[in-house]
Amino acid sequence: MCNKIIIEQTATFVRSRMYGESSGHDWWHAERVWKNALYLCRYEQADTFTVQLAALLHDIADWKFHNGDSEVGPSVAREFLNTQKVENTIIDHVCEIMRTMSFKGEGVPSPMRTIEGKIVQDADRLDAMGAIGIARTFAFGGQTNREIYNPDVAPIKNATTEQYKKKGHSINHFYEKLFLLKDLMNTTTGRKLAEERHAFMELYLEAFFKEVTMAIDSDNLRVLQKTVGEVY
Ligand code: ADP
Ligand code: NI
Repeated sequence: MCNKIIIEQTATFVRSRMYGESSGHDWWHAERVWKNALYLCRYEQADTFTVQLAALLHDIADWKFHNGDSEVGPSVAREFLNTQKVENTIIDHVCEIMRTMSFKGEGVPSPMRTIEGKIVQDADRLDAMGAIGIARTFAFGGQTNREIYNPDVAPIKNATTEQYKKKGHSINHFYEKLFLLKDLMNTTTGRKLAEERHAFMELYLEAFFKEVTMAIDSDNLRVLQKTVGEVY
């Protein structure tokens, strides 16, 4: 079977498994990661067949939804790619990328061995950032019964995977992961795009905390209203 058809069949398979999912790990996330990855490929020397397969399949059975098991995704992917008669070396490479790409806490390195892995990891991280990343964070938070924000719980950067898996409020996710991503990007193009998305998340949180402060501190409320009135 030619590579183009295998990619189409893979997209159809992933779409059928992920369509309509509501935590931000839906088909459209997989599609964006696929397209982001193809964009990054323009600036790198990489095997685009492997990149596309790994990008499409990367969240097919995410460890976050399988009791922390990072092996379920690669084994679903392997089974599917075998039906497509994909070469074993390529299947092994796709599974290696899937197994090692996920962010699991600040102190937990997730280095990528190959340029194909680096591209797919960057493509996925871009979709965790910026306007889309913010939307996905609150979607995931709602799906997993997290509060949007709890002012009694100061944001913490989590060091270990065990701490990262614990249930914090969604705003904490900016500190434990999202703001760390721009310095973890592998490719030059990915880093440039990540910087723009990072700046937007900072602006967003500034506005968020301004509104929170206004709501919880009546003295501040007067000051802020005066400031807003003066500015606008
Ligand atoms: P990764 O492979 O790095 O885990 P994914 O593509 O699987 O990346 O998606 C991770 C996204 O899921 C996060 O960027 C965020 O949008 C959401 N998410 C994961 N953990 C949390 C959390 N604790 N709080 C809020 N959102 C989360
Ligand atoms: Ni993903």
